[in-house]
Amino acid sequence: MTFSKEITQDRILISKIPEGVTPNKSHFRSVTVTEPAPVLKDNEVFVKNLIFSLDPYIRHDFSNDKKESRVVGFAIAKVVDSKNPKFPVGALVHSPSHWEEYTHVYEPEYINDLNVLDNAVDSKVPLSAYTGVLGIPGFTVWDSLNLRGDLKAGETIYISSAAGTLGQLAGQLAKRKGLRVIGSAGSDEKVTFLKDELGFDAAFNYKTQDKRKALTEAVGEAGLDIYYDLVGDDTTEIVLDLLNPRGRVLAVGALAYHQNTEPYAPKNLINILFKELRYEGYLVFSHYERFGKFLEELTPLVANGEVKYKDAVLKHGVDKIGETYVDFLNGAFVGKVNVQVADA
Ligand SMILES: NC(=O)c1ccc[n+]([C@@H]2O[C@H](COP(=O)([O-])OP(=O)(O)OC[C@H]3O[C@@H](n4cnc5c(N)ncnc54)[C@H](OP(=O)(O)O)[C@@H]3O)[C@@H](O)[C@H]2O)c1
Repeated sequence: MTFSKEITQDRILISKIPEGVTPNKSHFRSVTVTEPAPVLKDNEVFVKNLIFSLDPYIRHDFSNDKKESRVVGFAIAKVVDSKNPKFPVGALVHSPSHWEEYTHVYEPEYINDLNVLDNAVDSKVPLSAYTGVLGIPGFTVWDSLNLRGDLKAGETIYISSAAGTLGQLAGQLAKRKGLRVIGSAGSDEKVTFLKDELGFDAAFNYKTQDKRKALTEAVGEAGLDIYYDLVGDDTTEIVLDLLNPRGRVLAVGALAYHQNTEPYAPKNLINILFKELRYEGYLVFSHYERFGKFLEELTPLVANGEVKYKDAVLKHGVDKIGETYVDFLNGAFVGKVNVQVADA
């Protein structure tokens, strides 16, 4: 079938933002374009974007060589034309999509990133959860903790950006394994949410409190066994002092880097040697083979409320996605942020 109409749609363009410059709303431009729908070649698909996932890593694409370019992020989308039997017309997919209403997915690496969602979707869970707690962020947490966390009941774990998409789930999964969980976040409202709704044992506001003092107090005499690092900033230096012998740092996120904070080099790496610490990274891209197992295990827990999540689903047009993205980077929302531009 060929989707033969001409399409008029809104699209976001981003002007080049050098590394070191924090994006602001003036960097984004919304344009309305009228174009013929693409004539697809083998394996290509054409999708209607429904829900855009706003993710911190997207910021780095803004520093490419082009003066102005389209933005690529992930979206939940419906296939409206297809020359790929794996993604038939009508299928709900997780798609690498530009910030626009319709996207032609033709680059081989983007076709590779397409995933069918229909079989995964549970009617008790909103579709937007599949970009967050039941999407790649959720899988990253589940898999990194299982593969590299080596979690043991009774240990203490500290999670930075704990009220974010990954942080919320990391805390709850650690709690389910019997660990004592400490988190930090950037507002008192987020700190209350962590303690009162997610059951964190301790939490503090890293923007208003002295981080070293707050973390030392929260850790107490038991000391710290695991740091689940979502930030990659000067907190690492504090943590290296507080970790118990054989403690672990699991480096999963780099929010300070996305925000272009001046990189910080810890001056006490010697702790790694003297305390026989393990410092390890985790990158989700080479681990997708366990995604099905993750959905099998997490979907019922999310559906019955045993695993909670707080997210923000903003409903507005494509034209305002840039503004929402800037607010998101600046910490205006709790948890996963999605922009719904069309109904499923
Ligand atoms: N390793 C992998 O394969 C993998 C996979 C997925 C995601 N990640 C990474 O994991 C990290 C967390 O992702 P996420 O989606 O869960 O993001 P997130 O935590 O929901 O990100 C948004 C929040 O980050 C916090 N933040 C922003 N700048 C910060 C800073 N300099 N220091 C501390 N907190 C800051 C803000 O909350 P506050 O109000 O608390 O400041 C904001 O609300 C990101 O770096 C992401 O790229 C890695």
